[in-house]
Amino acid sequence: MDSKLIGIFDSGVGGLTVYKEIKKVNPNLNFIYLGDTKHFPYGSKTKENIIELSRQNIDFLISKKVDEIVIACGTATSQALETLKKEYKILINGIIEPTAEYIKEKEYNKVGIMATRGTIKSKAFENEIKKKSPDIEVQNKACPLLAPMAEEGWTNNEVAELTIKEYIKEFKDIQAIVLGCTHYPLFENIIKKYMPEVDVINTGKIVAENMKKRLKVDSKTDKIKEDKFYLTDTESNFINVAKLILNKEIVIEEIKEV
Ligand code: DGL
Repeated sequence: MDSKLIGIFDSGVGGLTVYKEIKKVNPNLNFIYLGDTKHFPYGSKTKENIIELSRQNIDFLISKKVDEIVIACGTATSQALETLKKEYKILINGIIEPTAEYIKEKEYNKVGIMATRGTIKSKAFENEIKKKSPDIEVQNKACPLLAPMAEEGWTNNEVAELTIKEYIKEFKDIQAIVLGCTHYPLFENIIKKYMPEVDVINTGKIVAENMKKRLKVDSKTDKIKEDKFYLTDTESNFINVAKLILNKEIVIEEIKEV
């Protein structure tokens, strides 16, 4: 029997941080990854645009016969997931609801959110977290420079340190910080360095654990295929940053139809 095929998309390389975590705890799943590099960044686009781009991504993944979809992007989850869930029969997973559930389980009372401008403006994290933990204080910070820096591979240099320091300086007495954009785990070490007492929440890890609980994949009978990686534009640094995240070379295919 073939293993389940999971379709994952993001605007670029960030979703690989989610793919990596899901793969780590669910090694018997098969994956198709789509990075919509032609339309990066999503963080500064309108809701209407993000919904339309997400539809195209989902249609492409469905054409590849995936069994379910993971929106490995905070921006697309925050602005498109609700609409898309009503339009498609296929299961579409986002990164916000499971993160809010995790925060409730941890009983934090002050958390910070770092995310793209679009995600912060949508208040999707804050609303979902407060729905589950009504007494919690949520401190928001839009960090529009971080995803482009991650695409460039600038995640471990002086510029990254200065930028992170500037973005985190207003957080006050928080117990945990949500990396609300999937590009941000690339800066996890720097964030931990400057906020050693704060729990850093990588949403990919939460999504991965949820999938493990839900899909019990049998390693003896399930047949694993080579994961596939597609980009809508290959003129980017994707391949180099992908190597940094996954510690291996991957083969990229460019698609024209999205
Ligand atoms: N990885 C993305 C997110 O989680 C998108 C960043 C962007 O395209 O601006 O929000």
